[in-house]
Amino acid sequence: MDYLSLCPLVVLLLCLVILALRKIFKIMIQDQEKSTAGIPPGSHGFPVIGETLQFMLSVNSGKGFYEFVRSRRIRYGSCFRTSLFGETHVFLSTTESARAVLNNESGMFTKRYIKSIAALVGDRSLLCASQHHHKILRSRFINLFSKKSTALMVRHFDELVVDALSGWEHRGTVVLLTDLLQITFKAMCKMLISLENEEELGSLQRDVGFVCEAMLAFPLNLPWTRFHKGIMARGRVMDALEKIIRDRRNETSSHNNNNNNHEDFLQQLLAVDNDSSASSSDHSTKLTDSEIKDNILTMIIAGQDTTASALTWMVKYLGENPKVLNILIEKQTQIAKQASDKPFLELDDLTEMTYASKMVKESLRMASVVPWFPRLVLQDCEMEGYKINKGWNINIDARSIHLDPNVYSEPHKFNPSRFDEEAKANSFLAFGMGGRTCLGLNMAKAMMVVFLHRFITTYRWRSKHREVDIICKIEEWISDSCVT
Ligand code: HEM
Repeated sequence: MDYLSLCPLVVLLLCLVILALRKIFKIMIQDQEKSTAGIPPGSHGFPVIGETLQFMLSVNSGKGFYEFVRSRRIRYGSCFRTSLFGETHVFLSTTESARAVLNNESGMFTKRYIKSIAALVGDRSLLCASQHHHKILRSRFINLFSKKSTALMVRHFDELVVDALSGWEHRGTVVLLTDLLQITFKAMCKMLISLENEEELGSLQRDVGFVCEAMLAFPLNLPWTRFHKGIMARGRVMDALEKIIRDRRNETSSHNNNNNNHEDFLQQLLAVDNDSSASSSDHSTKLTDSEIKDNILTMIIAGQDTTASALTWMVKYLGENPKVLNILIEKQTQIAKQASDKPFLELDDLTEMTYASKMVKESLRMASVVPWFPRLVLQDCEMEGYKINKGWNINIDARSIHLDPNVYSEPHKFNPSRFDEEAKANSFLAFGMGGRTCLGLNMAKAMMVVFLHRFITTYRWRSKHREVDIICKIEEWISDSCVT
């Protein structure tokens, strides 16, 4: 057959492809313009893949994955649907929906079990446990986040921050997130398992990093994939934790039971094993080693990245708001003078830092480090006047709520003093709400205040994109001897 005789066939094929594409686009446009009765507005996108491509494009664009949600919220309003990875997702952004879904008094919503995430953090992790199992685990862990633990964390975190900052003067430029990830990782490991050995910390941090990367990767377990690397790293993390638990038990049995000086979460979890006076209800909440290991890994992941990102955003906002910075320098240097006889901050010192606490809250509102909270719908129901089907995913869009002018006046203005007054009900969602509220919220807020205090009372700096240039010591700046 020569090329000329192929021509009509090619033209015919092209026409068919164009017709098929026109049909698909027509369906998509109709879909976008009008919602079927009662179903939230939005687009199904292409057959099977839905709007996954557009979502992935957002993820890889400079604007980040939230742009996908933001642009649709502007187009469709506070309730819209989309289709991602073969599933229907609905996004909601009113405080009423946040209350209904996150408080879940109706019992109609649950956190979705994702097999690939469970393979990485473990199916006994708080993040993956069934609703019933989650309740048991949470009631056990909530006791660990006591005022005493927060006080200990404040002291240890302050020590870590002071130590880290002492080296910044000679570095000139600091890539904030990288350094802050190291500090928060060390803080989590100290709090959870008293791990301080630099070499062991280094290899654990590398492996936890692989696990985190795999959580965002396509779940294909083949030797060259990111997912596989994460699964292998999880194995090594579990081995390391198993050894730590074994050593701890040996230490405990070779000493007198109460003669152990580890003040960490692991010690408290293992203490139930040895406490013969524990009531039967305490024993019923005794955790297995798998539960302990999965949740130590979960807490490292939950606490490290979030806190480091929140701190990085906070420094960015400080750099952009010199008025706020100057108020803080004045207030915090005053507090630093009063506490100059103490080497490290204590929890009580933070209660005086009221403006700094508002600064932290405002940074968390503006940054929305966890931008939306996904839940699975267990029963057909109605939200914001639309029909929501069982099996759909519903996402509370916290970032939209944080930036809604009906909820916060001038929401794009950075203004810590807005928290002089109580925020509207269900409007501050940085740590979630309801039965899944962040367990580490008080700790995270305390860590942010500690870092803020030390950073601004140590250096004068200049913010660059993701970096800071250290200009001089704050004393030199205050005494006008700072050479810029
Ligand atoms: C600024 C830092 C932090 C932010 C913004 C943050 C935010 C959140 C949010 C929004 C949730 C709930 C997600 C949902 O409802 O789907 C959550 C859960 C959680 N967070 Fe945090 N978090 C931070 C720091 C920490 C720290 C320091 C820890 C300590 C280990 C921690 C431990 C946890 C745990 C264990 C959960 C799961 C709770 C559960 O499912 O019952 N977080 N966090």
